[in-house]
Amino acid sequence: MNRYHPPEKYGNLNDDVSSILLSTEEIEQRVRELGESISQDYADLNPLLVGVLKGGVPFVADLLRMITIPIEIDFMAVSSYSKETRDRGLVRMQKDLDEPINGRHVLFIEHIIDTGLTINYLLRNLKARNPASLKVCALFDKSRRRLIDVPLAYKGFDLPDRFVVGYGLDFRERYRNLPYVGILKSEVFHATNND
Ligand code: PRP
Repeated sequence: MNRYHPPEKYGNLNDDVSSILLSTEEIEQRVRELGESISQDYADLNPLLVGVLKGGVPFVADLLRMITIPIEIDFMAVSSYSKETRDRGLVRMQKDLDEPINGRHVLFIEHIIDTGLTINYLLRNLKARNPASLKVCALFDKSRRRLIDVPLAYKGFDLPDRFVVGYGLDFRERYRNLPYVGILKSEVFHATNND
């Protein structure tokens, strides 16, 4: 299936946003606080931070630079059920970790938890590899949409059950590069949402 949708226009992305839900400054401040907490909690543990492509890239990149202790990083890429199938909970791993994690203190970095099905699958998968510890840091939490309980050691913000873009969150692969979280103008959303 070809998912490429050429832009309606090549203007400024900011013009497509009707309102800002979380400003650049709010996000920066919260990410700084999360980095400080992680630096304290994982001092002397040489944790492995695991990010999820693609939406997690801005959060991981910013969080890393707020952490002051030695860490290592790795990435996973998954394709979630909602994009390809109605079989909820089915997750296809597209990129696995580069190294084994047995005996490592692993902190899983997710930019958004929605139903919780993706992270639940990934946590079960990683737990089976016998890490010394396995915790989750999530920046955005749409807890009202949760279908399965997910223990969050670190959490950035609660998000309402609305479609939002920016700071890694996309609409048709766009808007990830907005430095804030906002709501698209309805004409933008509907103009390209008719197939
Ligand atoms: C996000 C996130 C999780 C999933 C969470 O990825 O990284 O994988 O959604 O949703 P869930 O809690 O309902 O399972 P997304 O599918 O948006 O992929 P992307 O990061 O490449 O945009």
